[in-house]
Amino acid sequence: MKILSLSEVSIRGKRLLIREDLNAPLADGRVTSDARLVAALPTVEQALAQGASSIILASHLGRPPRGADADTAPEFSMRPVATRLSELLGRDVTLLNGLDEAANLPAGGVSLLENLRFLPGETENDADLAKRLAKLCDVFVMDAFASAHRAHASTAGVIEAASVACAGPLLVKELQTLESILKNPTRPLVSIVGGAKISTKLGVLDRLAELSDTLVVGGAIANTFLAAAGYEVGESLIEASMLDEASRLLSNCDPLLPQDVLTAKEVAADAQTRICSVDSIPNDEMVVDIGPVSRNQLRDLLLESGTILWNGPLGVFEIEAFSAGTLHLAHSVAESSAFSLAGGGDTLAAIDLAEVQDSISYISTGGGALLEFVEGKVLPSIAQLGSRAR
Ligand code: 3PG
Repeated sequence: MKILSLSEVSIRGKRLLIREDLNAPLADGRVTSDARLVAALPTVEQALAQGASSIILASHLGRPPRGADADTAPEFSMRPVATRLSELLGRDVTLLNGLDEAANLPAGGVSLLENLRFLPGETENDADLAKRLAKLCDVFVMDAFASAHRAHASTAGVIEAASVACAGPLLVKELQTLESILKNPTRPLVSIVGGAKISTKLGVLDRLAELSDTLVVGGAIANTFLAAAGYEVGESLIEASMLDEASRLLSNCDPLLPQDVLTAKEVAADAQTRICSVDSIPNDEMVVDIGPVSRNQLRDLLLESGTILWNGPLGVFEIEAFSAGTLHLAHSVAESSAFSLAGGGDTLAAIDLAEVQDSISYISTGGGALLEFVEGKVLPSIAQLGSRAR
């Protein structure tokens, strides 16, 4: 689908509204992972280099309750994001408390609008709100790949309402990288899908089963596959409603399941653990990680692969005693010479923990958007940009 990109638009002397996804984790009023902020910096720098007169950045942050604002729900305020952005950019980033303040902004500089989800009508894709957002700028730039699956006023409606709308460089890069991996991967393509639930990743599992040379499943998703394959999984977390789907995938594409696992009686930092083969999981214990045989098998596979696509952890990696499998995976992906793409909040946290960010070929900012794109869905923002480019 043809979409107009920022580099094709003349923006000298123009006011830009740039929709980013700056939905970053916070703790104690500070941004704890600035990966999404860092990913947005080249867009701001490009816009300044192309001569934009002023830049308003906009994003949502979390899911504030309906009707909330910065006074009633300060924990959803973009203030910590503005502070971190200004450190990263090395210039002031003014926080704008609402659309009136944004509309009366003097020309020049970079500012950040308060949480878009404080605006009534944002998540409903309200047409009036979309028009008010469009009026803030001469050119609207959609750069938030991680929000492109949401048909909201700031991700869909505004694209229709703005006098000029285009895609930012981050969005373009995400789309190009994903398209090339999905359409023309260097083989063998190994996809790893971990995490808790098959139900939230069924479409992705189906698509990757078709595209991949090997599909590896991990985490509680693998437990459901093990149960569907007839293994006793004890007290492990499984999705009983997905057993038929897991059986169907088992017979269609034969995903790689763990051969050995780490088990514990409870999910607790001081729990006793044991390594066992998948055919001898104790009936009063649960699977919390993969075991060493599976770790090494996965490493060998990844070292032989041409392309790696990774989403989701292999165990309860937040607990140190259960993190070896996921960390080993992160190190193996980093060690492989394959082109590697990783995405999703937990996956990025595992990559951070393993400190291998610089050895992953491409880290996507997308969580849900990445899954929907891989699944083959047309993301509403992209569809909207496509219809503007016709
Ligand atoms: C994400 O973190 O996946 C995006 O920021 C989208 O957030 P949402 O699921 O609250 O729309």
